[in-house]
Amino acid sequence: MGTWIPFLLMLLLTWASLPPSSSDLDDEACLSNLKASLEDPTNSLKNWTKTTFLNACSGFTSYLQGATCNNGRIYKLSLSNLSLRGSISPYLSNCTNLQALDLSSNSLSGPIPPELQSLLNLAVLNLSSNRLTGPIPPQLVDCAYLNVIDLHDNQLTGPIPQQLGLLVRLSAFDVSNNRLSGPIPTSLGNRTGTLPRLNATSFDGNKDLYGYPLAPSKNRGLSVMAIVGIGLGSGLLSLVLSFTAVCIWLRVTEQGMAGEEGKISQLMPDY
Ligand SMILES: *[C@@H]1O[C@H](CO)[C@@H](O)[C@H](O)[C@H]1NC(C)=O
Ligand SMILES: *[C@@H]1O[C@H](CO)[C@@H](O)[C@H](O)[C@H]1NC(C)=O
Ligand SMILES: *[C@@H]1O[C@H](CO)[C@@H](O)[C@H](O)[C@H]1NC(C)=O
Ligand SMILES: *[C@@H]1O[C@H](CO)[C@@H](O)[C@H](O)[C@H]1NC(C)=O
Ligand SMILES: *[C@@H]1O[C@H](CO)[C@@H](O)[C@H](O)[C@H]1NC(C)=O
Ligand SMILES: *[C@@H]1O[C@H](CO)[C@@H](O)[C@H](O)[C@H]1NC(C)=O
Repeated sequence: MGTWIPFLLMLLLTWASLPPSSSDLDDEACLSNLKASLEDPTNSLKNWTKTTFLNACSGFTSYLQGATCNNGRIYKLSLSNLSLRGSISPYLSNCTNLQALDLSSNSLSGPIPPELQSLLNLAVLNLSSNRLTGPIPPQLVDCAYLNVIDLHDNQLTGPIPQQLGLLVRLSAFDVSNNRLSGPIPTSLGNRTGTLPRLNATSFDGNKDLYGYPLAPSKNRGLSVMAIVGIGLGSGLLSLVLSFTAVCIWLRVTEQGMAGEEGKISQLMPDY
């Protein structure tokens, strides 16, 4: 029996001196880079300090404001309505167990990092009501579990990526009130089968976005009319111009002929 004690002690010591798992280091890289990219004028993230990042989670307990933990890993980040500024760090991709990311209702600017594609467990992405610019990254299609994409009230530009139609778990999708342009992919605008359908409220408030389920825009109708009008008008004008030109040419040649006739008659001897 006595011979077991040193062995057990050694086992205990080895276990205790094991370095933190690489997962914790990933979360630490994620959190410290996120903190560095954010400006926090109201000091809402008081305990987002270097020492907290390494041990942000213990099992299901979180020691970090706005973070929820699951098995020692960051599982949810909810930093909504905290007057945060700055940008979204691409290192968020290091929080590889992240299931929900909510940075809504702040004043965040800059792009949505395409690196979020490595968050393979991400189900909820809510970046609504910020000042985000640039495109919606098509790479988000890699987050196959996404069921909420809420990007409304930002300044996003470019088209809605066709690929997002492949996200079959998507039940909430809101890109209203941005500066998106181009056609709404049919795979999102007119989903078929059992996929939850999206209505116009998902797409409203983007001046240059068009297609079903948005109502045909009056402006677009007018501009088509204007094009037809300009076409018809310029056609008519060129017709009138060429007619006038032909008339003038005819007159000139008539006068020329008359003149020639006059010369000829002058040359003719008088009888
Ligand atoms: C974080 O992510 C980057 C890029 O994806 C990767 O190279 C790095 O190994 C990850 N982990 C840490 C701790 O930086
Ligand atoms: C950080 O703040 C949260 C919420 O305010 C709290 O639950 C947590 O215990 C704090 N952590 C530390 C290390 O002070
Ligand atoms: C956002 O925060 C402000 C002040 O901190 C508060 O008055 C307001 O009710 C909050 N809004 C929401 C939607 O939680
Ligand atoms: C995203 O967050 C806002 C609050 O900031 C909330 O009103 C909205 O419902 C959320 N979106 C979804 C799809 O839950
Ligand atoms: C939507 O899809 C259905 C079935 O594929 C099709 O019949 C319908 O014409 C489509 N509607 C629009 C506006 O594209
Ligand atoms: C559009 O869809 C949203 C969410 O799915 C729903 O709350 C809303 O009532 C729908 N609007 C219309 C006009 O059908």
